[in-house]
Amino acid sequence: MTTTPDLTTMEQEKLRAHVAEVLTRARSRSTALTDAVDDHDLTRQHSRLMSPLVWDLAHIGNQEELWLVRDVGGRDPVRQDIDELYDAFKHARVDRPALPLLGPAEARGYVTEVRDKVLDVLDHAVLEGRPLVEGAFAFGMIAQHEQQHDETMLATHQLRAGAPVLDAPPPPRGRWVPAAEVLVPAGPFTMGTSTEPWALDNERPAHQVHVDAFVIDTTPVTCGDYLAFVEARGYHDPQWWSPTGWAHRQQAGITAPRFWEREDGRWVRTRFGVREPLPLDEPVVHVSFHEAEAYAAWAGKRLPTEAEWEKAARFDPASGRSRRYPWGDEDPTAEHANLGQRHLRPAPVGAYPAGASPLGVEQLIGDVWEWTSSDFAGYPGFAVFPYPEYSQVFFAPKFKVLRGGSFGTDPVACRGTFRNWDYPIRRQIFSGFRCARDPRPEELG
Ligand SMILES: [Fe+2]
Repeated sequence: MTTTPDLTTMEQEKLRAHVAEVLTRARSRSTALTDAVDDHDLTRQHSRLMSPLVWDLAHIGNQEELWLVRDVGGRDPVRQDIDELYDAFKHARVDRPALPLLGPAEARGYVTEVRDKVLDVLDHAVLEGRPLVEGAFAFGMIAQHEQQHDETMLATHQLRAGAPVLDAPPPPRGRWVPAAEVLVPAGPFTMGTSTEPWALDNERPAHQVHVDAFVIDTTPVTCGDYLAFVEARGYHDPQWWSPTGWAHRQQAGITAPRFWEREDGRWVRTRFGVREPLPLDEPVVHVSFHEAEAYAAWAGKRLPTEAEWEKAARFDPASGRSRRYPWGDEDPTAEHANLGQRHLRPAPVGAYPAGASPLGVEQLIGDVWEWTSSDFAGYPGFAVFPYPEYSQVFFAPKFKVLRGGSFGTDPVACRGTFRNWDYPIRRQIFSGFRCARDPRPEELG
């Protein structure tokens, strides 16, 4: 962990105000996502892949209670009796509906009671002297946790059948992006971070990585691009698929991205209960790693490694340093990226010229999580913080890394260094991808 030098009273107050703001923003979103449906929809399971929404809600409160009320605050438990019910490691998602969960009213009362105590803890906590509170880390971790569950709840909404209940304005318009690909020259860059105060253990520490020259797409693969693969019968030709990917494709019987359907000779997709024509210029979403990998092979390319993705996103050749975000060090605004559920869909390609990286790669942050070819693993010098269940227990080749966040990811849980992971078959998440390839000899000059 980085240590924050002694904070002045004014800096402490500024930090407290920032914490209160991000916690409040997370709670407004949790409230909006759970108030949008009735009690029946809150307590039922919309997919075996997901928890009932009411489980997510009380689990958010329980984690907040464990870390901020009990640990940081040293206060008495609010509801110690429910710890086991809301421990994600004790009950698989599929089993959660059968648990004696708090009902909607009880869950709402519980999270409110916890939050009231947390705001009081925040008023009194000393935000330095102990790694967990240094720079308000535990508060930042809990705000990220709530926002991550909000993204999960948004994915549950996408799986829910019935009339649409969510609404948001459309994203900005796309534009023609002049270069389809850029060459990233060979050389070292700084991957990960040792200075970002709320970065999680798996993003640490900063370390030098040599990356060979590679070529990467300037935009994510669109629905239109992907449709060409579908129409070329890419789902019926094992040559594009890895053996594992093909076996899964056969066994699951998938023939298109999730939520796509062929209707009267044309393709439509369903998005939060709305059926609409396929938006050809929008990044494809709800594809698995296997589908992304097969498309890339068909296109004569491959998925980027995690290091390639991060170098394309953060490396500034002019200064030789890595930025916090593709556009620079400032926090994301509405001009930079499609984040925070501001829009309920990925934005068309070219919609965020202000979000481009120094190398000219666009929409790396926001829109869709991007599959990389890398397994989830700890960086050299990795140290568990604050507990092994955050990341370390997931370091395994069975998990693939996704980068960049989606339209459903809040800025607090999205950075140039942020790492997400999932099983390569998953596609209920807001996952898409972009392609990369090795340069041709003449491109290296
Ligand atoms: Fe959780």
